[in-house]
Formats: sequence, C-alpha cells, structure tokens
Amino acid sequence: MSNSEQKRVQSLNLPPDKVMHKLVSLAKRRGFIFPSSEIYEGLSSCFDYGPLGSELKRNIKDLWWNSMTRRHHNIVGIDASIMMNPRVWEASGHVSSFNDPMIDDKTTKRRYRADHLIENHIEKLRREGKEEDLLRVQTAYEAAAGATDSNRALYEMIMAEGIKAQDTGSGDWTEVRQFNLMFQCNMGAVADTSSIVYLRPETAQGIFVNFHNVRESSRMKVPFGIAQIGKAFRNEIVKGNFIFRMVEFEQMEMQFFVKPGTQAEAFEAWREERFNWYTSSLGISREKLHWYRHDKLAHYADLAYDIKFEFPFGIEEIEGIHSRTDFDLKQHQEFSGKNMEYIDQLTNERYLPYVVETSAGCDRLFLALLADAYTEDAVDGEERVVLRLSPKVAPVKAAVLPLMKKGGMGEAAAKLHDELSTDFLVQYDDAGSIGKRYRRQDEIGTPFCITVDHQSLEEHTVTVRYRDSALQERIDLSRVKEFLASKLV
Ligand code: GAP
Repeated sequence: MSNSEQKRVQSLNLPPDKVMHKLVSLAKRRGFIFPSSEIYEGLSSCFDYGPLGSELKRNIKDLWWNSMTRRHHNIVGIDASIMMNPRVWEASGHVSSFNDPMIDDKTTKRRYRADHLIENHIEKLRREGKEEDLLRVQTAYEAAAGATDSNRALYEMIMAEGIKAQDTGSGDWTEVRQFNLMFQCNMGAVADTSSIVYLRPETAQGIFVNFHNVRESSRMKVPFGIAQIGKAFRNEIVKGNFIFRMVEFEQMEMQFFVKPGTQAEAFEAWREERFNWYTSSLGISREKLHWYRHDKLAHYADLAYDIKFEFPFGIEEIEGIHSRTDFDLKQHQEFSGKNMEYIDQLTNERYLPYVVETSAGCDRLFLALLADAYTEDAVDGEERVVLRLSPKVAPVKAAVLPLMKKGGMGEAAAKLHDELSTDFLVQYDDAGSIGKRYRRQDEIGTPFCITVDHQSLEEHTVTVRYRDSALQERIDLSRVKEFLASKLV
C-alpha cells in the first residue's frame, strides 16, 4: 500500500455477555433496528428495521437471491401470497401438528414451553455434575416425549422433579396444553369459522402449491428448484434475545425437486453449498459456524441438519437443511384432488418428486452478522467501536469526507459523492473533526473513507482509509469508482 502510515490497532477484550447489550444499543442509536411501535411501549418480539438496517437486510437478501437463482440455471424464484386457502395448512400438517407444549405459572401468570423447562433442568444437572440424576431425568424425558399422552407425561415429570421457572423461581403449574403457533385471522365481513385464514408460518407451502405452475411456465425439468424470500409468522411464546426469535420474520427458502432415490446426493451438495455461502458471500467467521444433525425430526423430514452460529447467548440455528421426501406434494395431491406427479418426457416415468429444502432466516442472519462483526479496539491508543462487516453486506460502501469544508474541498467532495452515488450507497459528511467522522463510519461498518484534502485539488487524488487497519493510501480521483467496484465482487 503506497503512502501508508503505520497504525497500531489493538483489539480490546469484550466479554460475550456484554455484547448483546452493546449491539442492541448500537442498532437503535445508528438506525439499524428499532423496537416496533416504540412510542406505545412497543410490541413484544416485533422490531422495525431503520435506514441502515433496511439497507443491510436488502444486501443479505440480494446476495442470497443472486446465489440461489441467478447462479443456478435450474432454480427460479417466486413471490407467493402470505394468506393461502386454509386447506393448505391442513394438508401440510400445520393445523394438527404445528404445536408446542405450553405450561402456565398460576402465580406469576407467565407461560413457558414445558419441554424447555425440562431441558433447562437437564442442563442444570449436567453443569452441577449430578450424573445419576442426569441419567434418570434424561431417560424419563425421552419416555415422556414419546408417550401417547405426552402432555400429561411432561406435566407429571415437571411436578415429580419439582422443576421451577428459571427466571422467577416459581413453580405453581397448570396442566400442559398444546398451543398452535399459527396466527389466525378472519377474512371477509363475518367472523365465523368459514372465514378463518392463517398467516403463513413458513414460505415453503407457497412453493409446493405452485409446483406445476412454475414447472410449466418456466419449462423446468427435474431436478430443479424454486426459491422465495418472504415474511412468515409464528405465535412464539418464548421470546427474547432481540431479533433472534420474532413473531414476524423473513425466510429465504428454496425447494429443490429431485427424482426419488437421488435425494441423498442432492442433500449433500446443498449442505456443502449452503455452509460455504456464509463464509464466501457474507464473510462470517468459519469458526463460529457449526453443524447440528437432528435426532428428533419434523413431521415432514427424513433427514435434517441445522447450520448454527455462535451467538453471544449460545450456539443457535440460522438455517435448516431438510430432506422433506414427497410428503408435501403427496399431501397436496390428496387434499386438493389434483395430480402433483411429474412425468419425465424422456422415459415416460411418472413420480412425485422428493424435495431437499434449504431454509434460512434473514433476521437471524442479520443478528449473526452484527454479532460476528462487532469489535472494540484501539487505534494508536484511541478506542473505537468497529463493525467489521464484509464490504458486500455493509450498508454504506464508502464515506466521502472533505478534510475541511472551505477552500474548494467541500465542493470537490460533494461532486465525488454525487458521482459515486449512481453506483453505490455512499455518505457525505463534513461535520466535526476528521477523526470523529472516521469513528462514525467505523461504528456502522463503512469499509472505506475517502478524504478530499488540499493535495486532492492540486493533483486530482484522494486518500482511501481502510476501516479495519485504519491504514491509508492515495489513489487517483478517476480510479475511485473502479476501486470500490473491485472490493464488492
Ligand atoms: N420450511 C421449513 C422451516 O420453516 P424452520 O427450521 O422452522 O424450517 C427455518 O425455520 C428458519 O427460519 C430457521 O432456521 C430460522 O433461521 C428462521 N426462523 C424460524 N422461526 C423463527 C423466528 N421465530 N424468528 C426468527 N427466525 C425464525
């Protein structure tokens, strides 16, 4: 790097339990995420994305969309309706099986997931090294979860073990009841049962019901995929951890239709591709990503893996990769009475395709990116907060800063800003010292600061400051656009 000054960047120690608090505060202060309807005290688990947040989210979605559709000749996208005929959800199993076992505390009036209470209890026994109790409780839990009346069995176990709520210490329990996670609303003027519609709890069903529409209109042949980004809704009872678990969230899902018998191969290929996407496209640290294989499978799957991320509050799922068999197409064939089979034009074989699904949560990924990027360090002894986001996802790609507003530098910087704005989201800032302006950009993850100084006016050059190293180099004014473009591929 030419004309570079040596800078000493020293990372500061940041305890994981402090990171979430700092992230939530930064997200609000700098316009990434606000609590929803905040002036009315907000609404639990609902959030609004601010100016920078909506840019960052858009970048995540664009990167996903391009890597899933544009880079695959045999994957096309759709944008299906959120509300669908309620029979869809009977066919998919969501009306009967999309339930969580809930238990209420009569004293504190709080509601909990019964299985989570037991799992937390098991975790506590493990931490305390009570091996004998651990084995006994684990065995009893497996039996209770598989019992014909599992609600009763879970309740009896909670009572027998004297399990209390971790947050309140209270344990004045009701019976365990199944609670369906789908939001219901009424369509039309009369609120009777015939007008019940659901807000979709996953985007996948919009893809399954359009299998033939997409195949025929796009002349797709198996194997092929359909991708979709859209909102999903779940009446989650267990909340918390900022945007990790929301009631309204966005999914990025792709259903890949294959010939029965070839699903294992497709599953492995997608597993690899999806895992690599996190590091190559989003720049997430490899060592914070983990695989988890499901033992307890959802009603539609015969094999399932999660990609998990090391959040400051624990290792949690960001994407599921599921081998969904022919469950959904078969169910829709039965419930709609329409033939969902595929006919291979070459061999005349008819079959219901099997499906490999990749299902990522955009909001969780957003949080993973922030958590991965958040750093505190000191540049030549001066402390700063830096979001080390990859240039591809960073909301603002560059800031254009006149060293001083006067002497023609302000005008030259404004002109450069306007030229760059046609291709990139760039900010112009002339308020405060140059050091303060750098810090403002570091904190929102802007990878480059371009400074227009006295020399710029004489030589038609600018300095480019790199966010992470704080090093600077001087480049020709005419090369700035090309420089930024080269950093975004
Ligand atoms: N179609 C399959 C499906 O919906 P899932 O594992 O239930 O599978 C997929 O959800 C992804 O959606 C999860 O990995 C997660 O990233 C995201 N997700 C699920 N529930 C969520 C919630 N309440 N808040 C935010 N994201 C959620």
